[in-house]
Amino acid sequence: MKLQDSYISRRLFLSRLLGGWLAGLIGILAYPVARFLAPAEAPEPAFVLLSAKDYLSIPPNSAKAFAWGYKMGIFIKASDRSLRAFKGVCSHMDCNVSYKPEERRFFCACHDGWYDEAGQNIAGPPPRPLERLEVRVEKRKLIVHLPGAVLPPEVEI
Ligand code: FES
Repeated sequence: MKLQDSYISRRLFLSRLLGGWLAGLIGILAYPVARFLAPAEAPEPAFVLLSAKDYLSIPPNSAKAFAWGYKMGIFIKASDRSLRAFKGVCSHMDCNVSYKPEERRFFCACHDGWYDEAGQNIAGPPPRPLERLEVRVEKRKLIVHLPGAVLPPEVEI
């Protein structure tokens, strides 16, 4: 079969092939950028179960991170041995915060934000305190939950 007998010309075939390839390439490149700019909202857990042994054994005035859904949570045993937990993200722009035991404060490195040991915003741009979570110890479990969350019966021991 000769080329001039085909239904589409070589030029049309190549331009459609190139157009399809470019559309695919743009899609491949645009998708991760779009997901970064508008991430899907992951549902927040009502509670997480942690090993009481691992978290209660930390020394006073120290903290340990845990997974709170797709975000970070911070469990803290304060210097007075009280137990607290917070969502570990800054109230300014959601950067992760870290606990500085030498200063007994939380620090956000993104814009030099500071929170006291109780999670109150005390310096820098954070407009609100850290979001507090409730902490309960049940036998060998440390239950960290949203304030007022109703826990399923299998969690209640
Ligand atoms: S994100 Fe924490 S101070 Fe800006």
